[in-house]
Amino acid sequence: MAEIGKNLERAKEILISGGLVGIPTETVYGLAANALDPAAVARIFSAKNRPSFDPLIVHTHSLATAKELVTSWPPFADQLARQCWPGPLTLLLPRASIIPDLVTSGMPDVAIRVPDSALTLTLLRTLDFPLVAPSANPFGYISPTTPAHVNEQLGDQVEYILDGGPCKVGVESTIVGVEKEHPHIYRKGGLPVEKIEAIAGKVIIQPNSSSNPRAPGMLNSHYAPRKKMVLGKIDELINEYDPDHCGILAFDTERKGLPKDRQRILAPDGQLVTAAKNLFGYLRELDAMEIDIILAEEVPDHLLGLAINDRLRRAAAE
Ligand code: TXA
Ligand code: MG
Repeated sequence: MAEIGKNLERAKEILISGGLVGIPTETVYGLAANALDPAAVARIFSAKNRPSFDPLIVHTHSLATAKELVTSWPPFADQLARQCWPGPLTLLLPRASIIPDLVTSGMPDVAIRVPDSALTLTLLRTLDFPLVAPSANPFGYISPTTPAHVNEQLGDQVEYILDGGPCKVGVESTIVGVEKEHPHIYRKGGLPVEKIEAIAGKVIIQPNSSSNPRAPGMLNSHYAPRKKMVLGKIDELINEYDPDHCGILAFDTERKGLPKDRQRILAPDGQLVTAAKNLFGYLRELDAMEIDIILAEEVPDHLLGLAINDRLRRAAAE
């Protein structure tokens, strides 16, 4: 098991020597390494059992340092970065030559973001290199939103986990790239599409695709619990499946007549931000229960609901 704490010096030493550290961000916990050291980057792929065609996001602490990692910077990227960083926005832009091939899986663009976690921002400022950090989970499994989640699954792969408490957003960053000078969204995430459009104008949302995805995070089956998950109308589904073998993941309402301890209510207050914060933790709790099937329902399909429903659909995909 890894040690969990707030010792920035310890984290810094491990990263400088090419090791891996679990880091907090506002979205999910990341598994970090020196982005400019190909050997350290390779360690991430093997720790996560991640295929080498799935590129990594580079984390840095400021707009100025972000610009050093790319060769062009469209005006809308400037507006988005100025208004949304630090925050759950990842920009996909043409990479500078200092970025190792492995980081982008040989692709022409690099994904960059400035995460909104005080501890991680301080760490990034004390390092003279940026950090690659994919979500700190085994490839394909549910992303971690607490240090304990990281330890449960990657505790043997990582020496130290920086403790920034539970993640305040709870779903991964929104990935925004550019095609023919227009912003495109490649992954729905913690920065709502409505907010991006208010800043950058109309954006095109790329559909998920299982074949040749531009962002492999868009693979249909991803973020998946080990248990079978069925997405639909819970009140109908409980008639189809044996309720003794089911757990329930509902938006805001508990189902009477079913045991409370096998139900997780994403947002008793009806707020999508609450639902996003609880999503991955509740999925993990249900996955650990003695049940066979998780019955889940979609949440309202706007703002953070777009990202939540995207994760729910993928978790339910075969
Ligand atoms: O919120 C987040 O973005 C979290 C925290 C830790 O920062 N990180 C995260 O990383 O979600 P990861 O590796 O789990 O997902 C990153 C997604 C992947 O699906 C990857 O394919 C896509 O971003 N991506 C990264 N670099 C890319 C590139 N150069 N071209 C296309 N897609 C890229
Ligand atoms: Mg991930």
